[in-house]
Amino acid sequence: MKRVSVSAPGKLLLLGEHAVIYNYPCIVTAVSQRVYVSVQKTETDFLEISAPQIDLYDYKKKVKSLGRSTSKNARFVEVAVKNFFQKYNLTAGLKIETESDFSAEFGFGSSSAVTVGTLKALSELFAVKLSQKQLFDLSYKTVLDVQKVGSGFDIAAAIFGGTLSFTAGGKEIEPLTDENLPLVVGYTGIKADTPTLVMRVAKLKRQYQKIVDHIFVQIGDLVNDAKKALLVRNYRMVGELMNFNQGLLDSLGVNTENLSKLIFAARSAGAYGAKLSGAGGGDCMIALCPKSKVSAVHRAIRNKGGLPIDVKTSAEGVRIEVP
Ligand code: MEV
Repeated sequence: MKRVSVSAPGKLLLLGEHAVIYNYPCIVTAVSQRVYVSVQKTETDFLEISAPQIDLYDYKKKVKSLGRSTSKNARFVEVAVKNFFQKYNLTAGLKIETESDFSAEFGFGSSSAVTVGTLKALSELFAVKLSQKQLFDLSYKTVLDVQKVGSGFDIAAAIFGGTLSFTAGGKEIEPLTDENLPLVVGYTGIKADTPTLVMRVAKLKRQYQKIVDHIFVQIGDLVNDAKKALLVRNYRMVGELMNFNQGLLDSLGVNTENLSKLIFAARSAGAYGAKLSGAGGGDCMIALCPKSKVSAVHRAIRNKGGLPIDVKTSAEGVRIEVP
């Protein structure tokens, strides 16, 4: 039976997290670490999923009853299949395997990459032509069905690749650069839960509406300045804007002591700027560095108990590996 394999990149949010939920722009880059999805039709009535890296072996569900997954790890793939079949009035037995270059713990967007990868592979397998916009909309619906919250920036990165400016729901997606930015990433070792942090910021906004609104306006302003700075490769300025962004995220209550330790260490070792990346509460920090300081920043992150991760930025978006 025909088998289609595709891959989609993970992502890192460079600037603008949380504010992007409230219609301010953010800047996201696709990273070189990818998620691989292969899809094959079977003669059965079942969807079978295996994803050894997240300890999911031989998950099996009747295609008729897809939807409420009993396995947390299978949810995005299962709901993606359900949405695809519903939208295009299709059905078939399927075998889906996923693999990843990175741990799902890092906050690199494995859920969005696997969702985009699954839908892209299904569109190939069933010869359904999907524009990038249609792929975005179906992937975004899938992520919202599972996770309830999210701006969709991670889906845009998985589809389009590169470094993008993005506004919630995909209203504006603007490619900024395909350059590999001199970025160092440090993992805190703590897994954060994005929906919980988004809810926490929403609560703060209800309590302190005016103050939080002002913070979001400032984040929007610094993202717009960073877009211009990125276009002329003024990385020093982008780094300084990252530092402003970090201060504002701290004031929203999503910073942690561990993130701070790595961020200050990176700055002291010569980074232009450093901040948390993503929802906060753990996961990763990023530092933009002069090339000559990359090794020193790596060392500084390790010395403070973080795990430095090598990434190349502005990676290629979703692609077919085996048609
Ligand atoms: C999480 O990586 C970034 C948030 O802005 C949520 C989102 O935009 O989906 C906190």
